[in-house]
Amino acid sequence: MPKRPLTRRQILRYALLSGTAALVGDGILNYESVRLRREALKVPNWKGGTIKVGQITDIHLDRDHALLKALNGIETLRAEKPDLVVFTGDFATFNLPESQARTKTFLKRLASLECPTASILGNHDVATGLDRFIVETGKKVGAPILVNEGLDLDGYMLVGMNDGGAAAPNIADPRFFPHSTLVLYHEPDYVVKQLKHVSLQISGHSHGGQICLPGGISVHTPPGARNYIDGFYPNAHIPLYVSSGIGTTGIPMRLFCPSEVNLLTISSA
Ligand SMILES: [Fe+2]
Repeated sequence: MPKRPLTRRQILRYALLSGTAALVGDGILNYESVRLRREALKVPNWKGGTIKVGQITDIHLDRDHALLKALNGIETLRAEKPDLVVFTGDFATFNLPESQARTKTFLKRLASLECPTASILGNHDVATGLDRFIVETGKKVGAPILVNEGLDLDGYMLVGMNDGGAAAPNIADPRFFPHSTLVLYHEPDYVVKQLKHVSLQISGHSHGGQICLPGGISVHTPPGARNYIDGFYPNAHIPLYVSSGIGTTGIPMRLFCPSEVNLLTISSA
């Protein structure tokens, strides 16, 4: 049967519906897109030159959709030609075969970047027992997971702390690493544990509040992200950057809180 042309009223109705869907799906609920957030961080205790660090965090690979957003985030950062890309924890919320498969896909894509990468574990990775799989998979595909370990990079040290709930030696001790030091630590509030010589802590965990009031005002954040929720805190115990991340836990939506990857241009103050 031939299709009849749409009437003007129908066209208007479709336009209204699709506009509303776009607004609800992305403008408010922040469902589809991953934004690139650029930050210039002036750090007093930094002698590593000017470097561009891409950050991805809290991808929570519980759905195929979450994986697509995470891969999209990697490609967004790739286009920026960063010097380093870090992932700051929470690969998944549940230890399921699908979560493992998606984690492997994500790590392989991370390893395909043209710059060094390093990842750490988040509270969900450790609590679900997915940590062992993640560390082994990272090793296999060439995407290192730092568990209380340091990487000696060009002019600075990059240290990855284990999740805040796990006992950890203070690997960032300046006796071991006398250079400028970046520390990856999933929970931002544990910045108070850092030794003063550390240049900058980079964290996630907060999801920026995930379900926010208009203007991005957070209502609730998890323990470990009660004091530091979003953005740069130059006057914390040591300078701290917190990304709102990509994914979700609990209700699978973000409200007034866009998913993001971050491009941090770090230089000395
Ligand atoms: Fe998370």
